[in-house]
Amino acid sequence: MDPKDRLIVALDVPSVAAAAAMVEKLDASVTFYKIGYQLAFAGGLSFAETLIRANKKVFLDLKLHDIGNTVGKGVESVAKLGATFLTVHAYPQTMHAAVDARKGSNLRILGVTVLTSYDDADLAAAGYDFTVPELVAERAAQARDIGVDGLVCSAEEAANLKPIISNGMVLVTPGIRPADSEKGDQKRVMTPAAAIAAGADHLVVGRPIVAAPDPKAAADAILAEIAAAGR
Ligand code: C5P
Repeated sequence: MDPKDRLIVALDVPSVAAAAAMVEKLDASVTFYKIGYQLAFAGGLSFAETLIRANKKVFLDLKLHDIGNTVGKGVESVAKLGATFLTVHAYPQTMHAAVDARKGSNLRILGVTVLTSYDDADLAAAGYDFTVPELVAERAAQARDIGVDGLVCSAEEAANLKPIISNGMVLVTPGIRPADSEKGDQKRVMTPAAAIAAGADHLVVGRPIVAAPDPKAAADAILAEIAAAGR
């Protein structure tokens, strides 16, 4: 895979103007962008269409979860936008509905197994009788059986999930930090090279690029590290 197809830059900015300025700075270095709640609810969905018209790829990180009919209709609309990836919470009904609704389009569905802000006590408080690793493994197996296209996971989870998922599924990994950068609020981080070695297919990188003094240089350095990691 071309390193540029592996690197997904998180446009975690408050406005379309700020996103457009960042995309202009990153220029040809970056071809794949993630839009999450912050930008999506501030004009980011029409900006996604602008990016797609400019031949960029878009990952809409909207983490859908609702009754199947509502999820399906939402996924159909996202497919029409021309997005490449969309996240849904990895509940069986939700995953079934999303996978059915994306048929005939280029949209790929990514399951979010257990949010990385959750620990075992958070799961117990939410009514689950599973540890985090147990629930992640269970949901990954369900995602595989339902035909979900990939999973979002930490680089640490990637190696454990590889044996569970099917060959065609992709692992998309945030929490990436080049060796010399700030961790911010991320607790478990890996360098780009280590994440690729652990089995990540796509790396989601936000602040190490968008908050860098020279975002394009930061992106180019990460691309070089991905290229050197091989695979
Ligand atoms: O700035 P940073 O590189 O930490 O950004 C990582 C991106 O990945 C953010 O958009 C964040 O919401 C997202 N993400 C994450 N951890 C997860 C899932 C998504 O950091 N488990």
